[in-house]
Amino acid sequence: MGFPGRVWAEVDLGAIRHNVRLLRRRSRAPRLMAVVKADAYGHGAVPVARAALAGGADGLAVATVAEGSELRRAGIRAPILVFGDLSPVGLRLAIRERLAVSVHSVPSARRIAASGVEVHLKVDTGMNRWGLEPAEVGEALRALGRPPEGVYTHLACADSDPEATRRQLETFDAVLAAHPFGGALVHAANSAATLWHPHAHYGCVRPGIALYGLHPAGDAGDPGGEGLRPALTLRSYVAAVRRLESGEGVSYGLTFRAPGPMLAATVPVGYADGYRRALSGRAEALVRGRRRPLLGRVSMDACVFGVDGDVRLGDEVVLLGRQGDEVVPAEELAAWAGTINYEITTGLNPRRVERSYADVQGS
Ligand SMILES: Cc1ncc(COP(=O)(O)O)c(C=O)c1O
Repeated sequence: MGFPGRVWAEVDLGAIRHNVRLLRRRSRAPRLMAVVKADAYGHGAVPVARAALAGGADGLAVATVAEGSELRRAGIRAPILVFGDLSPVGLRLAIRERLAVSVHSVPSARRIAASGVEVHLKVDTGMNRWGLEPAEVGEALRALGRPPEGVYTHLACADSDPEATRRQLETFDAVLAAHPFGGALVHAANSAATLWHPHAHYGCVRPGIALYGLHPAGDAGDPGGEGLRPALTLRSYVAAVRRLESGEGVSYGLTFRAPGPMLAATVPVGYADGYRRALSGRAEALVRGRRRPLLGRVSMDACVFGVDGDVRLGDEVVLLGRQGDEVVPAEELAAWAGTINYEITTGLNPRRVERSYADVQGS
């Protein structure tokens, strides 16, 4: 398997289908909206959206009109909801592309009212970031002048704080009870709530990170997360091997010093690819099925790993994902870099990291 590039991300579309099916089984809701914003969390929006729909997703969600438009241009006709706030230009494009839009404020309800576009009211139940205050919902409904097609909220800590989640859902339930939403599609559950908070499922779940087989709470001890299958493998190759004598340093700042004679393999991946500089001196990668330590700093285009005499020029290097019996999960890479798995895959630079798509059958 592979791609004859410098560094490439191989995405298993069978894993995406598997994860959608698994999440559907775990959900009480009749519908599932696959969140494919940010270029499907760095996995490639169009192929992932198609795989998610093939796996049983009923619709898609994106953050921006441009992301929705990309899916329409690729010929995807499924319902698409735009989460983000809209400029007037964005609204015109959303209407043309038949994207459903989110209403975050009373002025936005007024602007959208006459458009006939599909509308989902976003209610802020405690995250204090986006959405209508519960007390504004009545006014937004009056401004809209028609029942919205959907009403939703977003949970701030479904992965970490059941009590705060319960309070948000209580607030949401009170909003639902106070207004005539008719047949509107009600939704609240991100991946964590889809897996762990059935009360949040309502009519539709809205998972993102779990579609990609990544753990919503970033648990590196459970890389598959409840039977989820990670979809992305980041591969490169050994481009040079050199011998270091005792005391010789490696990469900028010479922050790593060889404790004795040893071999060092140069791999052409760096922070400009999204292999973050914060991994310096901490990460491990897989060569010939074994973990190898990153030596010194990650530079813009390359980094160096400690290896043994069994390693050859051209050997495949797995920076993220599985090789043989070993695996470097995104969650572990995130812990080394002091971030979250979401940022690891979304941070891959598509202008430099080539993508290839595998489709493991039977998935
Ligand atoms: C409104 C909304 N719903 C659902 C999701 C999916 O969240 P997750 O990736 O944690 O499943 C996101 C992602 O941030 C979101 O912004």
